[in-house]
Amino acid sequence: MNDAQQAIAPGLKGVVAGETALALVDGGAGRLLYRGYPIGEVVEHGTYAQVAELLWTDTWDPEATLACGPVPAEVLDVLRRIPTHANAMDALRTAVSAWGAVHGVLWPPTVEQARALTAFAPSALAAFARLREGLEPIEPDPSLGLAEGFLTQLRGARPDPAAARALDAYFMVGAEHGFNASTFAARVIVSTHSDMASAVVGAIGALKGPWHGGAPAEVVDQLHEMGSIDQAEDWIRGTLARGERLMGFGHRVYRAYDPRAAALRRVAESQSHAADWLEKAMAVEEIALRVLAEFKPDYPIKTNVEYYAAAVLQGVGLPPNLFPATFALARHAGWTAHCLEQGEVDVLIRPDVRYVGPAERSLPA
Ligand code: ACO
Repeated sequence: MNDAQQAIAPGLKGVVAGETALALVDGGAGRLLYRGYPIGEVVEHGTYAQVAELLWTDTWDPEATLACGPVPAEVLDVLRRIPTHANAMDALRTAVSAWGAVHGVLWPPTVEQARALTAFAPSALAAFARLREGLEPIEPDPSLGLAEGFLTQLRGARPDPAAARALDAYFMVGAEHGFNASTFAARVIVSTHSDMASAVVGAIGALKGPWHGGAPAEVVDQLHEMGSIDQAEDWIRGTLARGERLMGFGHRVYRAYDPRAAALRRVAESQSHAADWLEKAMAVEEIALRVLAEFKPDYPIKTNVEYYAAAVLQGVGLPPNLFPATFALARHAGWTAHCLEQGEVDVLIRPDVRYVGPAERSLPA
């Protein structure tokens, strides 16, 4: 078969591009397993530190701990030079790149690099968030878990334990999700024998897009824009009629309800101080699912993780402009675990493309 006859899968939809032992994403049944463990059980009984160790080392260690790591002075200098109006994802991407330059990270990817990068990222983001407010960054406290340590560095005070637990749950849910765009980008980069920091820089770039990780902040905007619950249906119909997308709905793989959305919805329900916002979100969800089913009867578009991520992050008190970068913090465990897995497979990822440009011709005289 020549390449003009070979079938193309736009966006690689449905293409199986490798193997992984990290997560089973069962889109039809709405199941997500981390190395075999259902996400609902993991969130109920685990911590992000345990999830990260599970992904990196295939052990479920009840004693696992992971605290925020230091921000090297050179990286802080870089963060101080980023304009205060910059997007937090751009700041985090830049910080990880600078961290890689400082540490001179090399092939092959290692568990130590994975731990250090995952621990560094929350401190870097908290430092940027403070600097843009004209505040000095705060040193990480090694006795606190990643979520609690991040919130403490952000605000200069220990968070309410329920908020720390809710953010830790969010981190667990966001940790890993198969060959999504950002993870695939990380694997492509590491497949060239480039380093883990470069892979995470590329992954953050991919996650920045609203079709991937930028949705929760837009969920908040949309819920705000549509006005009261009575106005929601008209607003939703108008949005779909203009060919625009409803944020927090739809997924490339899930045709059933996203199990991560279900797990986060339970976490959101336990955040009593965010009750009004959550009540509106749940009422709007019901209307949106009904209208989407009418709009695309043959293509199930259900609630995705970002919808209730917005509820949890809002409840924790994070500003929406930090939502995508907070998702990136969570995904560090998965990205780096995929780098380790790709390092073991050790094959260059390099697909073919069909050329559809002009036939051979001479340059204009
Ligand atoms: N609102 C309205 N229409 C939608 C939505 C949505 N949320 N999602 C899909 N559709 C429609 C598309 O417009 C398209 O219609 P068409 O065939 O008439 O052009 C059809 O459904 C199929 O869309 P695709 O983009 O081809 O399908 P896919 O399933 O790959 O889309 C995606 C997945 C990109 C996430 C999409 O559902 C979307 O844009 N959702 C909104 C953004 C969002 O919530 N992103 C977060 C995803 S979760 C995550 O990345 C962690």
